Amino acid sequence: MCGIVGYIGNRSAIPVLMDGLKKLEYRGYDSAGVAYINGNGLEIKKTKGRIEDLHKILPFPLPECKIGVGHTRWATHGEPSDRNAHPHACGGVVVVHNGIIENYQQLRSRLTSEGHEFSSETDTEVIPRLISSHMEKGNTFEESMKKAVSDLRGSYALGIMSGNCPGKLFAIRNGSPLVIGVGQNEYFFASDIPAFLQFTNKFIFLEDGQICMLSRDDITVENLGPNGSSKKARQSSGAKVVEISWTPEMAEKDGFDYFMLKEMYEQPRTVRDTMSEWLDNPPKMLDSLGLTPKMVLGLRRLHIAACGTSYHAGLVAKYIIEALAHIPVDVEIASEFRYRDQLIDKNNLFISITQSGETADTLAAQREASKKGAFTLSICNVVGSTASREADSVLYTRAGPEIGVASTKAFTAQLAALCLIAIALGMKRGRLIAAEAETLINQLKKMPSLIEKALASGKHVKDIVGRIKGSRSMLYLGRGINYPIALEGALKLKEISYIHAEGYPAGEMKHGPIALIERGLPVVVIAPMDNLFEKTLSNIEEVKARGGKVIVVTDEPGLRTKADEVIEVPPAHPALSPFLNVIPLQLMAFWSGVLNGTDVDKPRNLAKSVTVE
Ligand code: M6R
Repeated sequence: MCGIVGYIGNRSAIPVLMDGLKKLEYRGYDSAGVAYINGNGLEIKKTKGRIEDLHKILPFPLPECKIGVGHTRWATHGEPSDRNAHPHACGGVVVVHNGIIENYQQLRSRLTSEGHEFSSETDTEVIPRLISSHMEKGNTFEESMKKAVSDLRGSYALGIMSGNCPGKLFAIRNGSPLVIGVGQNEYFFASDIPAFLQFTNKFIFLEDGQICMLSRDDITVENLGPNGSSKKARQSSGAKVVEISWTPEMAEKDGFDYFMLKEMYEQPRTVRDTMSEWLDNPPKMLDSLGLTPKMVLGLRRLHIAACGTSYHAGLVAKYIIEALAHIPVDVEIASEFRYRDQLIDKNNLFISITQSGETADTLAAQREASKKGAFTLSICNVVGSTASREADSVLYTRAGPEIGVASTKAFTAQLAALCLIAIALGMKRGRLIAAEAETLINQLKKMPSLIEKALASGKHVKDIVGRIKGSRSMLYLGRGINYPIALEGALKLKEISYIHAEGYPAGEMKHGPIALIERGLPVVVIAPMDNLFEKTLSNIEEVKARGGKVIVVTDEPGLRTKADEVIEVPPAHPALSPFLNVIPLQLMAFWSGVLNGTDVDKPRNLAKSVTVE
């Protein structure tokens, strides 16, 4: 999705903005632009293409300026083109926007009838034109901006600046992520924290309906009301500043060629960090999350909603929580959750799982559950994100910034958090006996080193991928708790390498997908040595009998004689095997992407965080 940045301070603004945009590249984009105010007034440079293309059209030497805004555009309204690129301007007012203005057609007609001639197909262009229109009617720039915003419907994070007001920047939030970076006599705004981590680790998280006015020495935050009214926010002077523990290095490649590769190899640490605080006493974690013993004992059902990879983590959790805590768990794709009548009440716990904490559908599901009276807990990776602020309670995954669009380390960190919850609920509800809890906890303590061993298959996986290069389709099969891992393997492959892939429960093969199997079709089978092993073995035979090329992920070396390729992972407790089985599948997707020449960290059409419905 689009990324916006803004800067005001004593540094040269253009390099700061360009660097911020570079850090937001992972969000996905097709064009980029900046606007700045220098001695000649307001200037805008924008182009279709990458940040490098924007660099090429900047003046040399760079103009001296201390204020500016920037944008990376992920096309929604209008094709990727120079004219649709942001910033958009009218009457000296420039706007960068992330989100969607739902009533833009209506506003566009109104403005056209007033004589405005639009130069782009975007929904965004109505905003500077609306501001101008209000100014033409005698309102000041600030009044006009607030009035314009009250005309908008939809979701937006806006950065606004005017050539006639060169000492001020404005940031407005409604439904799309926006953070304010607080420096020494300098301020920043951005769609996401990594944009300015190298300058500050202090951030203010704006609420929906707030406007922040940034000058070199101060910021103020106001709550916007109807018809352009506004009231100073309670937190305004000395607004609540949150210190982030992420370092700039965490958002760098650190010697790896790709963020995805770096992030996969970070997993031993990120899983350890996520669990370390609570592993010796999981039930204590429930207390600290505000889940009182009475609530835990009274829980009748647990609802999990999430999207994509986070949804797959939720599916794994269903197996673990139902087995250890004996509570029925419903897991639903967040974009479906609010469109049916959910039977949720105050005896239910709702868990949202989200790396970014900004996924629009997941937020909507969480709000819906909250409205119905459920206690909402968010498993989230980004401190201060919307999901974390709106939930009744948050359990943070400690994965650090995840920049690669394909989620890897966030997934295993989510599994770690969910395992802690399952064990804690099981213990508190008296369903998990102490010895079994101890076995699981001991195994979880070893998980970082087991993941390290699983990662050692990297070179072998790369060779296998080389041997199946050219395949345009793949099947992923798993059973029980590893069925969601088959789904996750297929999702990873699709998004990174653009190869068609399906994840299926192995037992469902005979009900249709087996028709797809033909000579040479690569079929990845997850076959841990658990109670379903023999059944999975039969599925392997069925695939082989039809000429499929079987690639097995297993902890059973004996499978070498049965499969075309074997990827060994260390043995694990059956409830924890997904942690290890997912690793070769991540590596497989990664190497397929690299060998197919795709942009692995920024695959086509995708955005890291999906902030619109
Ligand atoms: O930030 P979230 O965890 O809410 O994001 C959910 C999905 O958009 C995300 O997992 C997506 O599916 C990834 N690209 C998968 O690798």
